[in-house]
Amino acid sequence: MEEKVKALQHEVESFLVKSKEDLENFRLKFISKKGQLMSLFDDLKLASVEEKKKLGKTLNDLKQLAENRFKSLQESIENTTSSDRETKDLSLPVVPNKTGNLHPLNLTRYRIIEIFERLGFNVSDGPEIEDDWHNFTALNFPENHPAREMQDTFFVEKPARPEGGNPDVLLRTHTSNVQVRLMKNQKPPIRSIMPGRVYRNEAISARAHCFFHQVEGLYIDKNVGFSDLKQTLYHFAKEMFGKDTKIRLRPSYFPFTEPSAEIDISCLICHGEGCNVCKYSGWVEIAGSGMVHPNVLRNGGIDPEEFTGFAFGMGIERITMLRYSINDLRLFSENDVRFLRQFKSVV
Ligand code: PHE
Repeated sequence: MEEKVKALQHEVESFLVKSKEDLENFRLKFISKKGQLMSLFDDLKLASVEEKKKLGKTLNDLKQLAENRFKSLQESIENTTSSDRETKDLSLPVVPNKTGNLHPLNLTRYRIIEIFERLGFNVSDGPEIEDDWHNFTALNFPENHPAREMQDTFFVEKPARPEGGNPDVLLRTHTSNVQVRLMKNQKPPIRSIMPGRVYRNEAISARAHCFFHQVEGLYIDKNVGFSDLKQTLYHFAKEMFGKDTKIRLRPSYFPFTEPSAEIDISCLICHGEGCNVCKYSGWVEIAGSGMVHPNVLRNGGIDPEEFTGFAFGMGIERITMLRYSINDLRLFSENDVRFLRQFKSVV
């Protein structure tokens, strides 16, 4: 019996394990209840008291040895097989690199800039915190115009009005403030677009927000006419929404343009059939526009007898919603990556 134990010990120590199958064989032979080691324990029950004393401990040690060896073999087999897979399986797909992407409003802004740059427009910028003069007065807003009222405008400072002037500081309600600054700083010809953020004191809903984005356009030169305005915006609509897009001009009113027109495009969703995006009219408004009012030219230091010009202002949110069929304005500012990630490859 002693010899049997020695032989088995030798086997436990030298048993070669290179794979999971070898490991399973090791377990069956030395660990499982029906294995060789356990049958030695059965033999021991029949042995003499003396032999029991002598071999009992040796067998227990051997059992311990087998279990320890099994554990360490198991660990090393698991490690080598998984690291083998890592180094050897070249067919595994590459883990995609998660880079950021442009916000849909920026994608639209860049596209608008691209279209107008090809027509010779440059890009200008102006302040979001503005004074009353640039946002209202110079743009020919009458003193009592409702847009100046508290419910539309966020005022930053509203000091008492000194004689002859209104020093209110406010968040600009439109990008038209940049028009005035351009006229003051540049001589015609002026051909510029002015993208930026604007603020209005409106209740937040799917269709309105207290801040949004506009692109202002201004073209001042000798002999600029209404037909130039119309053709420029028609070209823009076709470039932006596709060559079959139609435009419609509706008479409108802005204090700073005369005549003024609202620009509609044919509905991209229903193609004129009528749907809830176009409120069953077949047309969707995208911009306000008109010929620059002589008073505004004068306020900007430009002689209205010598120069004329057109201006327009369009909402970037509205255009983006039409472009990508988005039905809720709030999505743009909620920063939900599940929404934002969808615009990765669309430029
Ligand atoms: N500023 C106007 C608005 O915010 C749009 C506009 C710009 C209209 C330029 C005419 C000319 O609604």
